[in-house]
Amino acid sequence: MKFFIDTGNLAQIKEASELGILDGVTTNPSLMAKEGVKGEAAIAQHYKAICEIVDGDISAEVLSTDFESMVEEGKKLAAIHPNIVVKVPMIKDGIKAIKWFTDNGIRTNCTLIFSAGQAILAAKAGATYVSPFIGRIDDSGWDGIELIRQMRLIFDIQGYKTEILAASIRNALHIIKCAEAGADVCTCPLDSILGLLKHPLTDIGLAKFLEDAKKM
Ligand code: E4P
Repeated sequence: MKFFIDTGNLAQIKEASELGILDGVTTNPSLMAKEGVKGEAAIAQHYKAICEIVDGDISAEVLSTDFESMVEEGKKLAAIHPNIVVKVPMIKDGIKAIKWFTDNGIRTNCTLIFSAGQAILAAKAGATYVSPFIGRIDDSGWDGIELIRQMRLIFDIQGYKTEILAASIRNALHIIKCAEAGADVCTCPLDSILGLLKHPLTDIGLAKFLEDAKKM
């Protein structure tokens, strides 16, 4: 399973990248706004800065919702850097735009996926990635991991090449469960990635080793 970080924060991207396990980055308009990135030039500059830190796929989301505007916006985003993947919302015009991008050699990430039906449509349109929002599904009283399992089963039976990118990750256990359910990629906040490091017995064990090392 590939590891992406889900943030627009350059310091956090650098910290995750320095771990040596980072394969890419996802952003969305909320995450970009949080970093105070405003205006077309600043947005493009910020994506460029991310691409300079991480040599992997970087999702950049379109802000429009009609086919023509999404295509125009996506072409500009894709021109920023070869690693940019155009993120497109799961709506009717979004599916049309994904098909257009697929036919024109631009890679896509279909975002805001909450059902297997939506994932099938995006895969049929040729999306490079589909992003089911695990945490938000759990928040609404459904089972996000179960959707990953169902999508893995369907994609394998149908031979879809689209990668399952588990998103809206809330904690380290979500990452483990996504790996178990067969996600191709997990995009996570830095805290959830660092959460994988933690175990109290590791801390206790290391403290004892360091204490005993003084006697060596
Ligand atoms: C996915 O690409 C989204 O940016 C993200 O995972 C959404 O997560 P949230 O539910 O924590 O906002």
